Amino acid sequence: MEGMIGVFDSGFGGLTVHRALVDAFPERDFLYFGDNRNAPYGGRPPIEVLNLTCGAMERLFAEGCTLVVIACNTASVVALRWIQQQWLPVRRREDGVARNVIGVAVPTIEEATEGEGGGVIAVFATRRTVESGVYPLEIGKRRPGLAVEQQACEELAGAIERGAARGELRGLVDGYVGELLGRLGKAPETVILGCTHYPLVADLFAAALPAGVRMIHQPAATARALKGYLARHPEYDASCGGARRWLSTGFPAEAMPLVERFWGGGLPFEVSAGPGV
Ligand code: DGL
Repeated sequence: MEGMIGVFDSGFGGLTVHRALVDAFPERDFLYFGDNRNAPYGGRPPIEVLNLTCGAMERLFAEGCTLVVIACNTASVVALRWIQQQWLPVRRREDGVARNVIGVAVPTIEEATEGEGGGVIAVFATRRTVESGVYPLEIGKRRPGLAVEQQACEELAGAIERGAARGELRGLVDGYVGELLGRLGKAPETVILGCTHYPLVADLFAAALPAGVRMIHQPAATARALKGYLARHPEYDASCGGARRWLSTGFPAEAMPLVERFWGGGLPFEVSAGPGV
């Protein structure tokens, strides 16, 4: 299928973004690719994240995707700039096909920085995302008056992934929110949940944070950004049959309940090769 929109994540977490994209564009063809075999990416060295993400782009391009949304924050902040600036132009010259890759970080930042004035944006994310510094950097470019406080949530994505009980997840979220509030000494105005998995515990974050904090919903922000992007780039507005496929590099059968949690129902995943580190 030529002209499909590819959606990439390190595993199942990106289904939270995929769901929002499918709901926003029911007529579009989508191919989801989860690299479950190599997940999680959040603690991997940047070079591995870059190699894995490039491999995944190759896989999605080979399947006929012309536009790919990287749903994974870790892959977006580590690999996207290099892919857009260095890799895609070479790829385009070599085979003459216009392709592009977009991510979840910029749409989230755009939404978080709407408006005027100062204040604090709190970012909760994986260690690799926090260490990349992309959120503070890009927020600072758009709104220099805003302060950014980041909190690495080392264990949270893994705990959600293995289906930890709500009590355990609440304990983790309370701990991370408490650490951030302790450093800040006051409530942030805005909160970014900068990880594919965190929408599933957004209510726990809301409960742990002071009342009135604005929470950015990354899947919705990404769907809105894609709408704008397709309007500006009709060359990617090709296939329209509502076809869907889901590929994974492999997961145990016991992981299926996770899909239901992220997607809201079972999905017919096909096992796929690559990418390799
Ligand atoms: N998908 C990753 C992200 O959004 C979380 C899971 C992982 O560490 O691979 O950062």
